[in-house]
Amino acid sequence: MGIIAVAGGTGSIGRTIVEALVERGAHDVFVLTRKARESDNVKFLAVDYGDVNGIAQALEEARVDTVICAFGMESDAISQAQINLIHAAERSTVTKRFMVSGYDMLFKDEQMTWLPIARWARDADKAVAATNLEHTRVVNGLFLDYYGIPHWKSYLKPWINGVHVPGKWAVLPGDGLSPINFVTTKDMARFVTRLMDSSGWKPVSFIAGQTTTFKEICEIAERARGERFFVQYESLESLRNGRISFPEFVETGLEGSGQSTESIFAMFHLTSATGGYTITSDDTLDRRFPDIHITTAEEVIESSWRGR
Ligand SMILES: NC(=O)c1ccc[n+]([C@@H]2O[C@H](COP(=O)([O-])OP(=O)(O)OC[C@H]3O[C@@H](n4cnc5c(N)ncnc54)[C@H](OP(=O)(O)O)[C@@H]3O)[C@@H](O)[C@H]2O)c1
Repeated sequence: MGIIAVAGGTGSIGRTIVEALVERGAHDVFVLTRKARESDNVKFLAVDYGDVNGIAQALEEARVDTVICAFGMESDAISQAQINLIHAAERSTVTKRFMVSGYDMLFKDEQMTWLPIARWARDADKAVAATNLEHTRVVNGLFLDYYGIPHWKSYLKPWINGVHVPGKWAVLPGDGLSPINFVTTKDMARFVTRLMDSSGWKPVSFIAGQTTTFKEICEIAERARGERFFVQYESLESLRNGRISFPEFVETGLEGSGQSTESIFAMFHLTSATGGYTITSDDTLDRRFPDIHITTAEEVIESSWRGR
């Protein structure tokens, strides 16, 4: 049995991973946090992410062999907190493995100048590659949960990917037919728990889930709700210019980078429409752990929206 610490285990993705680890029961689980709280089923380890020696000492005292980082990558400060955590894990004599915060796309070099999370991902990958830690980053495309919320159980905060099922509208980037990989947060977390039991981590752990398109998601949602949605198409040129015609927006959490909410959504939809969320590798966790059932878009949307 290993001892795993999930940093940011109080957040959307972190909490989902913690629950999956506790459900599997194969390892001891700690949540690393800036502020410990009371809980019956999880042990909290409070740390100051500015204090590398202090974190290393906390990891050693708790005998943590694996750190999973699930910080929400929203600022330079959080990126630095992750890099400090990597240095602390390297310094801890008992810690051997590190999963960097990802659960997203495989960023490309050309994205570094205009996509801050791409830069933060590169910085974390560089920092962890310079250590002796066995390490990986989970790359899983987009999460299906968004199409079931608020009726689908999920800890994700509101976000819009092409189709807004509660509002019965869609803004499809390009022709809406670009292939995109989707998975639920719960299925993604199940794959993460299996990685904990296995050795020989690769720098990137791909989860393919289901490959489909925003257009197909829209059609599934229309069938489930029994109504045609208000559908618009956004040209790639318009997206490149930071424009996307959403009838309504939600805060992304990334506005601290100085970009407007609209331009952030335009950026992500341009990425989706140009293959940024398409997993091309055959070397996936799906192949390695074929017994894990992949929840489909149809299952999420039908069970959340049929008759609503
Ligand atoms: N592919 C997709 O569709 C998709 C969707 C959502 C998220 N993601 C990815 O999933 C990852 C996790 O995102 P999330 O939304 O779950 O994150 P989140 O809920 O915003 O944050 C997770 C945790 O990070 C910790 N944290 C926040 N600010 C911090 C700071 N300044 N320093 C250190 N820790 C801080 C907090 O823990 P404490 O307060 O306990 O310290 C928080 O609970 C990100 O890499 C994100 O890009 C991907």
